[in-house]
Amino acid sequence: AARSSFLIVANRLPVDRSMAPDGTASWRRSPGGLVTAIAPVMQRRHGAWLGWHGAPDEELGPFEQDGMSLIPVPLSEQEVQLYYEGFSNATLWPLYHDVVAPPVFERDMWDAYRKINERFADAAAEAADEGALVWVQDYQLQLVPAMLRKRRPDLRIGFFLHIPFPPVELFWRLPWRTELVEGLLGADLVGFQRPGGASNFIRLCRRLLGLSYKGNEVYTGDGRSVTAQAFPISVDFSELDNLVREPHIVQRAKEIRSDLGDPEHVLLGVDRLDYTKGIGQRLEAFGELLAEGRLNAGEAVFVQIATPSRERVEEYRRLRDDIELQVGRINGEHSMLGHQPIQYFHQSYDREELAALYLAADVMVVTPLRDGMNLVAKEYVACHNDLRGALVLSEFAGAADELRQSYLVNPYDVEGLKRTMLAAMRATPHEVARRMRTMRRRVSTYDVDRWASEFLTALES
Ligand code: UDP
Ligand code: G6P
Repeated sequence: AARSSFLIVANRLPVDRSMAPDGTASWRRSPGGLVTAIAPVMQRRHGAWLGWHGAPDEELGPFEQDGMSLIPVPLSEQEVQLYYEGFSNATLWPLYHDVVAPPVFERDMWDAYRKINERFADAAAEAADEGALVWVQDYQLQLVPAMLRKRRPDLRIGFFLHIPFPPVELFWRLPWRTELVEGLLGADLVGFQRPGGASNFIRLCRRLLGLSYKGNEVYTGDGRSVTAQAFPISVDFSELDNLVREPHIVQRAKEIRSDLGDPEHVLLGVDRLDYTKGIGQRLEAFGELLAEGRLNAGEAVFVQIATPSRERVEEYRRLRDDIELQVGRINGEHSMLGHQPIQYFHQSYDREELAALYLAADVMVVTPLRDGMNLVAKEYVACHNDLRGALVLSEFAGAADELRQSYLVNPYDVEGLKRTMLAAMRATPHEVARRMRTMRRRVSTYDVDRWASEFLTALES
């Protein structure tokens, strides 16, 4: 196969192959913010994308899709369990998100993680042209930079972590902490969402490995230096901004409101069904507002999209049960014939339907307990060229650094959440527009192309 001078290496390809029970296969867009951000960058820069295609026990050759060259990396059923559901999503994911769920530490999961990282490094070494630029993505592949450098010292290697990088005291718990840090240090540039992530990493290099540093540069001891720096990720602003100007999207947004019974307030949540997202906290706040009569049942509708995610991981299964019980309780207590205050959807939506939903919502409620960035918050802003729409945003999302004019909340503070949601609902159009205008200026300037070009320029220099 032809070798590539620009290579993305991520656990997932932008498309996900799913098998129906009758054995027929179909392709869908992969879930999550990583794919949302990287896909437009790739379409414009014409490189190759190496990743898992989503179907266990299936080997596929390279193929082209939506103007991207995709190179599938196979995983067996057992590898999916140990490397993906296990070490990536039952160990690292909760640990890096401030242990909002307890991480599991199991040696066979670690062994699989190392083995699969070797497989990705082999595939990348194979696919990269002489002197190519290789950009490794996210927590599933933290060993790849060092493994790849060993195989191919000629490459320029970047790494970007899409999720938070935890404080030293939390990272310290990992029995394999040294290997993970050494893995990352194989890169020339390690990117984080927030400056705090970069400084946590630098501090860790000093405390764990005794490395010295100056500013953002860590000296590895073998004559190399690694830069650790924040590059807050973003959205394709103009794509969304153009999309919501299309008459069929505007029409669809009107239809959504009328299907909901044209309530005074439409509140919206859009998340993967993940325990880091604070879905229970926001529904609790909404339920209490109804119970206390501070909000009338006919006056407001809360639309919660909870996209299926990592459904075989224990904590996710439990979360789904908890949320569905909670939705049932609140609706049971406050529904009227033909009207339910919470509209809950355990489904996944495409870009167009999401854009129409964003446009239809008066208040977007984004309340993660911890989140690397949260692209949903930025997408909501990108979709409101009408300057309507208030954003309620958790202080614990990376997006809070930039979207200072949102209604910032501490999601652990239910009373504060209730007050803030009410304030967002009752704000004057003038106040809402003032906040939205400032946030739009930020997101349109720092869009995903700016993010990618700043990272890649830093990597090339
Ligand atoms: N998303 C989607 N369909 C859905 C729900 C979400 O396409 O039904 C997209 C959403 O538009 C956003 C991404 O999934 O681009 C979620 O990214 P975010 O950073 O908010 O959270 P993550 O899922 O990466 O933790
Ligand atoms: C987050 C992670 C991504 C991941 C996505 C979807 O955005 O940072 O690496 O791809 O969630 O999760 P999944 O486990 O389905 O890939």
